Amino acid sequence: MCGIVGGVAERNVQDILLEGLRRLEYRGYDSAGIAVLDDHGVIHRHRRVGKVVELSNAAIQSPLVGRIGIAHTRWATHGSPTQGNAHPHFSTRRIAIVHNGIIENHAPLREELIRQGYAFESDTDTEVAAHLIARHLDHTGDLLKAVQQATAELEGAYALAVIAQDDPDRVIACRNGPPLVVGYGIGEHFIASDVQALLPVTQRFAFIENGEIVDVRRDRVTIYDRGGEIVEREIKTSALSAGAVDRGAYRHFMQKEIFEQPYAVSETLEGRVVADRPLAAEILGSDAAAVLASTRAVQIVACGTSYHAGLIARYWLEELAGIPCQVEVASEYRYRHHVVLPDSLFLTLSQSGETADTLAAVQASREDAYIARLAICNVPESSLVRESELVLLTHAGPEIGVASTKAFTTQLVALMQVVLLVAQKRGADESVLKNLRGELLHLPQIIERALELDPLIERLAERFVDRGHALFLGRGAYYPVAMEGALKLKEISYIHAEAYPAGELKHGPLALVDADMPVIAVAPNNAMLEKLKSNLEEVRARGGELFVFAEPGAGLCEGPGMNIIEMPSGAGMSAPVVFTVPLQLLAYHTAVLKGTDVDQPRNLAKSVTVE
Ligand code: G6P
Repeated sequence: MCGIVGGVAERNVQDILLEGLRRLEYRGYDSAGIAVLDDHGVIHRHRRVGKVVELSNAAIQSPLVGRIGIAHTRWATHGSPTQGNAHPHFSTRRIAIVHNGIIENHAPLREELIRQGYAFESDTDTEVAAHLIARHLDHTGDLLKAVQQATAELEGAYALAVIAQDDPDRVIACRNGPPLVVGYGIGEHFIASDVQALLPVTQRFAFIENGEIVDVRRDRVTIYDRGGEIVEREIKTSALSAGAVDRGAYRHFMQKEIFEQPYAVSETLEGRVVADRPLAAEILGSDAAAVLASTRAVQIVACGTSYHAGLIARYWLEELAGIPCQVEVASEYRYRHHVVLPDSLFLTLSQSGETADTLAAVQASREDAYIARLAICNVPESSLVRESELVLLTHAGPEIGVASTKAFTTQLVALMQVVLLVAQKRGADESVLKNLRGELLHLPQIIERALELDPLIERLAERFVDRGHALFLGRGAYYPVAMEGALKLKEISYIHAEAYPAGELKHGPLALVDADMPVIAVAPNNAMLEKLKSNLEEVRARGGELFVFAEPGAGLCEGPGMNIIEMPSGAGMSAPVVFTVPLQLLAYHTAVLKGTDVDQPRNLAKSVTVE
């Protein structure tokens, strides 16, 4: 989703801003732009449809020289992805603005501004904000006041950054929804949508809260609250380094992130899970132990891949902790009337911690009588972490590929920890819990073995590349694993893929099965195996081709229409983590063969900061 970078420095900012945009590419975008205010007080800009590299090429051809600037990657919402709609937008060249989010009342404001003589050059809601700020600047002569007054008229969720010819030496930025950070340098200061954009220039950050406006100058940064009062904000030093977002020797970030999973999982276990000792709560926030002890039900809310992790955890919670669990996508939850069971915990899952629907669901949950909000999140500085009373961090490290991989498997590991903690509090048998802890601790090794399937899956992918559709089957906790496999395939290879609980096959999707429909099944050696095998026979009998990921001893034999991929065993109840890995690899290799943009698939964004 849109990315913002801006800065005021003693040096030329063009390359800093372009590097910032490159580092925000993972968020997903369709066009990019940059505007720089030169030392003669003139704003110059470049905008390009497509990748940041196109914009960089334009800047090589015709460099923008200046010490103040703003830049943007745009993910189209209002107006198609054209150069004219790309940011920064001008108001008669006196003002340049970049914007993330949606201005909901743009239509009446546009009409009013047109009546007042402002000429519009784009179809965007952003240009409305540019003219509105220009109008206020005419009256006040002060860019900060102009932004304060203009934003009072705006409705919706947005983050903005503005520079003005008439009030140079500062970038004014504000936040009302999408994230915004300030980066503190020496004699230079920056703003961006996330810390990764600014890591080459600083590791010191302050996080802007909703409703705040920040005045960024060379020698100081001043943050104002909604009422115009100065806010003191702690400056935090990020543990991330600029190199943390490099692809290394891998061809794609997604590939790197798939192969990082053994490490990411062991980092998420580190210091928390020990085989011979009951789990110690690593949950941040006061009263975590008391909250878990009194939890009698759990409501999980998340989006996308994170939602699938929640669906798996539901099986674990109900089976191991014996408490009811509901799981819902955040965009539905936030608008529904809820009946909350007594002593319910509200649990959110998010890689980024900035997903607008998930954040809105957290707000909505405050209307209900939840005992607490627990966030499982990968970004310690995110909005979700700041807005939840309890937090369990996944230690996956930065995830750049739009298709989530290591964030998902580390979420599962964190979820199993929560399940074990609740089960422990509820007096579950220690020998059962010990066994589960042992299985968790073995996960990194077992994932390593699943990754050894890579060459085999690469060859298998050749049989998917020309298909238009694929069906994924699983049962129990492996149904959401199948859902995640289908999501991965459609996200990055654009092959239509659907997941079904295998027992539902006969109620509809079986009609689709023929020789052109590959059917992928997830078949662990558990109590459902025999049932699943009957479902697979239903596919075989209709001439469908099966690709079955099965543990040794499943009693499935290769044959016409039946391809068996032998999975490593030993992960017990944590095995959904292991079975996810080959499905990620299958999607990855299919996409590579198809030649799609693996890390930034069309139309998708990594961090969805609008509704
Ligand atoms: C986007 C991403 C998905 C991700 C989802 C939820 O759709 O493309 O990969 O699963 O958002 O993101 P979150 O950061 O909340 O886990």
